[in-house]
Amino acid sequence: MFKNVIVKTPCKAVTQGITSAPELGQPDYSLALKQHAAYIEALKQCGVSVTVLPADESFPDSCFVEDVAVITPKCAIVTNPGAATRNQETKAIVPVLKQFFPEDKIEYITAPGTLEGGDVMMVGTHFYVGRSARTNEEGIKQFIAILEKHGLTGSEVPLTEVLHLKTGVNYIENNNMLVAGEFITKAEFAQYNKIVIPQSESYAANCIWVNGTVIVPCGYPTVEKAVKDAGYPVILVDTSEFRKIDGGLSCLSLRF
Ligand code: GLY
Repeated sequence: MFKNVIVKTPCKAVTQGITSAPELGQPDYSLALKQHAAYIEALKQCGVSVTVLPADESFPDSCFVEDVAVITPKCAIVTNPGAATRNQETKAIVPVLKQFFPEDKIEYITAPGTLEGGDVMMVGTHFYVGRSARTNEEGIKQFIAILEKHGLTGSEVPLTEVLHLKTGVNYIENNNMLVAGEFITKAEFAQYNKIVIPQSESYAANCIWVNGTVIVPCGYPTVEKAVKDAGYPVILVDTSEFRKIDGGLSCLSLRF
């Protein structure tokens, strides 16, 4: 169960966030703020305490706070984002993590290693790590060594088609995994009960499990039905403005 969630308010510069889909247009800032507020309300409905960090205009993508740290049951790991414009976002998360963890439970990925939290999927005490354009071999090596130091395990999952691992695969507990695109047939996930997402709704592979409820993005009826059919209560949250800059539900929070 999660007790805490950290989110970061979108800054005005969110309109300039990195995107692989410029055809969707720039995010509407005021709508992004409203959607972010609704996201916080959905999280609160799931019984977590939400820490809301202030917007930081220096970093357009900084609302995607998941990428700057990975929080495990045993320790917090400050990442080293592979995106140049995001790399220094980690500085602001360190003092926040110190409010929750003693210094000996805060670890760091360092150069030449790179790693972004969107590439890390927790399944119990095991962590799958996507080797992506943002997360490199050295970052994964450091990350797995940190996990093992704390009695946890990790393994690499290569990916080629999407930004982050969790862009296309998300674990929603009870052995259930939402899979889209290149992750549908990966041997690494053969042991799970796969909920296969059609290409037309692949964005909605990025749902989050929070204390028994699954938060699903608005506008993806096949995924909404599949998650309900799997037995979960669902809360819908509109993330249209974050989708325009390759962001989804998991990217917007750290849950622990
Ligand atoms: N725009 C989100 C990211 O590229 O990290």
